[in-house]
Amino acid sequence: MEPQEPLGFHSLTDEIVTDLIIEGTVPNWLSGSLIRNGPAAFEIGDVGVEHWFDGLAMLHKFRFRDGEVQYRNRFLRTEAYERAQNGSFEGGFATGTTTLFDRLKRYLFDAPYDNTNIIAERLGGRYFALTETPRWVAFDPESLATRGYVQYEGPEPSGNLACAHMRRSSKTGEMVNFEIEFGRTSQYHVYSMTAPTERDHICSVPVSEPAYMHSFAMTPSYVVLTEFPFVVNPLDLLRPGKQGPFIENFEWKPDRGTRFIIIDRNRGEVVGEPRTGGFFGFHHANAYEEDNELVIDLETVPDALAIDTLYLDRLRAGELDVFAGRMERFRVHPGRSGETTIERELLSDGTALPTVSPARWCQAHRYIYAQGTEQPMAEWPREIRKIDTETGAVTVFSDGENNLSEPIFVPRRTGETEDEGVVLSVMLDVSDERSWLVVLDGESFTELARARIPHAIPFDFHGRFFSELD
Ligand code: CO
Repeated sequence: MEPQEPLGFHSLTDEIVTDLIIEGTVPNWLSGSLIRNGPAAFEIGDVGVEHWFDGLAMLHKFRFRDGEVQYRNRFLRTEAYERAQNGSFEGGFATGTTTLFDRLKRYLFDAPYDNTNIIAERLGGRYFALTETPRWVAFDPESLATRGYVQYEGPEPSGNLACAHMRRSSKTGEMVNFEIEFGRTSQYHVYSMTAPTERDHICSVPVSEPAYMHSFAMTPSYVVLTEFPFVVNPLDLLRPGKQGPFIENFEWKPDRGTRFIIIDRNRGEVVGEPRTGGFFGFHHANAYEEDNELVIDLETVPDALAIDTLYLDRLRAGELDVFAGRMERFRVHPGRSGETTIERELLSDGTALPTVSPARWCQAHRYIYAQGTEQPMAEWPREIRKIDTETGAVTVFSDGENNLSEPIFVPRRTGETEDEGVVLSVMLDVSDERSWLVVLDGESFTELARARIPHAIPFDFHGRFFSELD
């Protein structure tokens, strides 16, 4: 298949395993595997998807051992993948031509959409690829081979849509997530997990119009659902004959404002619902408790129009004049409700896919890592940033016109200096049409090594470093 311009939104078909040639020195202490997930094929033959989010899921694994790096990539063999091979390439998010009712029936009830291209997680000793349905795709962490499905079946409440960005406590290892159950009265169900099929219900929040929420915030005592005013009428969603892709049924209603639904995890109830002016966002970087306040670092955009800018025809035509993310810090009082002034501080403008050290999840952090772009974004991100939230200093790594992926920090030792470790990012060399894995020193943010990958990896979403996969 011929790559389409610009590189990064092309379809990759190779599946390989190879030791990478390294320039520089990968630290010997770095042991484990980075597994990244993302869309990697947007057309098979004559059929394709229309939105970046709908490309077929591919896992990319970088295994670090004794200063060497092995790379392996593989498509997930899902029903979506099989349908695409058979000429019926359907996106689940923003692509689609069949009636909405038929699609939703399958998407929500029969066999939920399984193109799990957002992230990989480990739970109860097993590895899963996730998207925004409650159907997880299991995979073998060595071979990346697909190993069937897991879907929770009760007895605790469950929903039709699931958040792909589960929250894990860095202290207890406990995993928390929420799902949306559609109905005459819809519900947000928040729960914790110790294994894929073992859930403890924390709280359910009834809502008339559920919002699209790609991630949420968690601290040791609280779960916070940031309810953006991008909402769906569930009855509309289920009405037969209505046409259109899933996400196009959500409506931007800025007058509703953005509501922080604050759930006390121990009491299992909503203890505050402060509301502020309407904005939208995809990613919470981290959250923690400080002086009776919740500090929530969240990347915002003014509205949900950002989703429309990620259709492939626009991306491939280079039409990228869109509002990039703003890394912002919100301070909210857990006990407040109603229209309130919420303290809001800009940490860095022009960001995407923010992360923090996994050793700091759900507790105070100093550093945020993120892709960096101009504001508004005219080019796909060509830098990654280390944002010091104490001093405001921003350190940048870039390499000419090359594109850099979501940066993943790997701590050398937990409990030590927060930025002692490395930052891993996949860099697309646009002139060489190859990708590189770049290893930066966490403290100085300078390059330690780069490893050349034999092909160009399409722009992906999220990675996780699994130290046990060494
Ligand atoms: Co995401």
